[in-house]
Amino acid sequence: MLDFVGADNNYQCAFCNNTTDGLNKLASALVESEDDIILATRIEHHSNDLPWRERCKVVYAEVDEQGRVIYEDIERLLEEYDVKYVTVTAASNVTGYVTDVHRIAKMAHAHGAKIIVDGAQIVAHREFRMTTGDPAENIDFFVFSAHKMYSPYGGGAIIGPWDIMDAHMPEFYGGGTITLVGDDWQLYNGYPYNYEAGSPNYAGIIGLGKAIDILKEIGFDAIQEHEQVLMKKLIDGLKEQPDIILYGDCDNIEDRVGVITFNYTTANTTRIAAHLSDMGGVATRRGAFCAHPYVWRLMGISDHDVVGFENCTDAETPGMVRISLGIYNTEEEVEEFLRVLPLAVEKAAEDSQIQGLIPQF
Ligand SMILES: Cc1ncc(COP(=O)(O)O)c(C=O)c1O
Repeated sequence: MLDFVGADNNYQCAFCNNTTDGLNKLASALVESEDDIILATRIEHHSNDLPWRERCKVVYAEVDEQGRVIYEDIERLLEEYDVKYVTVTAASNVTGYVTDVHRIAKMAHAHGAKIIVDGAQIVAHREFRMTTGDPAENIDFFVFSAHKMYSPYGGGAIIGPWDIMDAHMPEFYGGGTITLVGDDWQLYNGYPYNYEAGSPNYAGIIGLGKAIDILKEIGFDAIQEHEQVLMKKLIDGLKEQPDIILYGDCDNIEDRVGVITFNYTTANTTRIAAHLSDMGGVATRRGAFCAHPYVWRLMGISDHDVVGFENCTDAETPGMVRISLGIYNTEEEVEEFLRVLPLAVEKAAEDSQIQGLIPQF
């Protein structure tokens, strides 16, 4: 496990249920006061935002017009605030942008902060190294889900440094966490046991190990190359569709993993996604993908205007359609998708008129 993420023996792995579980455990363990300051970014998934904002103060680095994190904003916030932890995703689940986490690690460490990386979207797409040879660039904590790497649901891992993890424990108590318990006293065990309350999910952990073996066997160079070929073909085809809105930088895609999001000025995205499924057997996801503040920014919807959707149904709330590419996808599937898409959009536009579901873009 440590080898897979390039961690040395200063680190250890604790198994958890998924990235959300791991990040909540880390937040529970590491936040010591509601005055602690965490630096996150506006591209974060809710799972790397809410566990922190529920416990302490979070300051957010902004994104630029194409949705990339503004590194200068991270530096500005580190200078302005006494930041304890910087927490960033390694890759966005909305635009697929890969974050330069080692650059951010260097900035964080120079200001006395530690860095936590949400690895949910990177682990199946690109090689990830927690250490680089320059200690200033090392990642302190890394969390990821097994199911994002084609393993069964319910597995995940938190990788952190022995010393800090030993000294901080999440508010998750029970079997497996202790060395001894008396009538009214209890002695807790050290890392990783203090993070693994309850019976382990053996199947999830074995699945994760097998997934790592398979990804390594295929190799991340081959995975990345394959994904870039599919992405280019898909984006080139999408650019030709009338009335489409594509999000993120679609001209320079080297820093994007295989996640593509789009919208239409002529049809409601809920209906587009439904017809893609019905007509082409294509599984997409529609919505704001648990990254609401980022999606509103990309769509140009203000925080004030979002409040107006509080009582709306899912289909009435703004959102996009997302295509996610995996190692199993083929060029033929991309071609088939591009064939079905205009048909699905046409049908969705008809539904939109009948059902009063307006396009949201
Ligand atoms: C970037 C990112 N972070 C965190 C998560 C949460 O992962 P999980 O649902 O496995 O806990 C996801 C899930 O899609 C994600 O894409």
